[in-house]
Amino acid sequence: MSLKQRAQLLREKLFNVFGDTGEKVIAAKAAGRVNLIGEHTDYNDGFVLPMAIDREMVLVGQANQERVIRLYSADFDTSAEFSLDNIVSDAEDTWTNYPRGVIKLLMEAGHRVVGMNVAMSGNVPQAAGLSSSAALEVGTAYLTHLVSRFELDKVEMVQLCQRAENTFVGVNCGIMDQFISGLGRKDHALFLDCRSLDYELVPLPAGDEYKIVICNTAVKRGLVDSAYNERRSQCEQGVAGLQQFLPDIKALRDVTVNEFSQYKDNLDELVAKRCQHVVAENQRVEDSVVALKDGDISHFGQLMNQSHASLRDLYEVSCRELDLMVELAQAIDGVVGARMTGAGFGGCTVNLVKADAVEGFLAQVPEKYEEKTGITPEVYVCTAMDGAVEIGL
Ligand code: GLA
Repeated sequence: MSLKQRAQLLREKLFNVFGDTGEKVIAAKAAGRVNLIGEHTDYNDGFVLPMAIDREMVLVGQANQERVIRLYSADFDTSAEFSLDNIVSDAEDTWTNYPRGVIKLLMEAGHRVVGMNVAMSGNVPQAAGLSSSAALEVGTAYLTHLVSRFELDKVEMVQLCQRAENTFVGVNCGIMDQFISGLGRKDHALFLDCRSLDYELVPLPAGDEYKIVICNTAVKRGLVDSAYNERRSQCEQGVAGLQQFLPDIKALRDVTVNEFSQYKDNLDELVAKRCQHVVAENQRVEDSVVALKDGDISHFGQLMNQSHASLRDLYEVSCRELDLMVELAQAIDGVVGARMTGAGFGGCTVNLVKADAVEGFLAQVPEKYEEKTGITPEVYVCTAMDGAVEIGL
C-alpha cells in the first residue's frame, strides 16, 4: 500500500474516532533508520552514517479549535488525550509520552501550537533498534508544525525531539536517530558531524547492484539502557584521563588514532578499550564516506566488518545472536559487509549485499539462525527514503 493510501485510511479512522472538525486534514510521515556505520560515536561528538528506511510512522492531523491534543494509535487501537495547558507524562499510555514531550517542548520554544486530532500508524519494527520512537517524535513535530502553521527549521526540530526523548521520556540518546528520521534523503546515506550538526548527503550504490538487508535477531536484552549509560560515562572518564596529555580535547571526537595509541596506556584498561572503539570508529566513518564517493564498495564493506568486530570485542555491546547473524551473513558469497547496528544487546544487523546474492542470503541466513537459536528472525530488504515529509492527500 502506498503512503498516500495509508494516509487516506488513517483519515477515515480519524473521522470515525474523533469526528470531522471541518478543518483541513494534513498527513505527514517520518522514517525509521538504519545506521550503516558510526556506532556509539554520536554522544562523543563524533561522526555517523545512517540512512532513513522505507519503514515509517504515518500521521494525519486536523485542528480541533480546542486546547486539546487527541491521539489515536491504529496499531494499538487505542486513543488518549491531553490538554495543551498542562502537559505531563503518562505512566499508563507510555506511547503518548513521545508526542506529549515533543509538543511541550515545541510550545516552550515559543511555537504557537493549536489543538488537533491525530491518527497514526507505523510499520517500523518496535524495540528492534530501527528508531521507531524517533520516527514518532519527528513525525509528531513535523505534523504539528503543518497543522499549527508555524515555520520550523528541520535541524531545530530534530534537536528538540532529541531533547524531548532525553528530558521527557527519560532516555539518554544521542542526536543520530532523530536527525536521520527528519533529514534523511531518498537513495542517500547522511554523513553527520554530531558536534556541529553539519551534514552531507552521500549517494548510495545503485539499488540494482547492491541492497541493504536488515536482519532482526528478535532479541532485546533488558540491560540496554544501563549498559548504554555505563558506556557513555566510560567515554567521559577516557576524555578526563586523556585531557592530562591533550588539554584541548573536549570529547573523544578530538582524539586521533595516533594520539590515542600514544596515551592509551595511561587509562584504565576497560576505559581504554571503550575509547579505542570510539576513536577508530570515527575514523572508519570518515573512511567510509571516501570509499563510497570513490565507488570502492568492497572497502566500505571491510570497514563495516571491522566496526562489528570492534563493537563485539572492545565496546562489548554485541551479543551471541548478533554475532551469529553477522557470521552467517559474512560466510555468504556476495555479502560485502555485515555488522550489528544501533545500541546493541539485540536488535538488528545491517548487511550490504550484492543484488544477485540477495536471494541466496534470504534463503540461508534466517534458516540457519533459527536452527542455531530456535528464534525466528525477521529480514527486511530496505531502500533509503526521505526522512520527514508531508504526504499529499
Ligand atoms: C541508540 C541511540 C543513538 C546512538 C546509538 C548507538 O540508537 O539512540 O543516539 O547512540 O544507540 O550508535
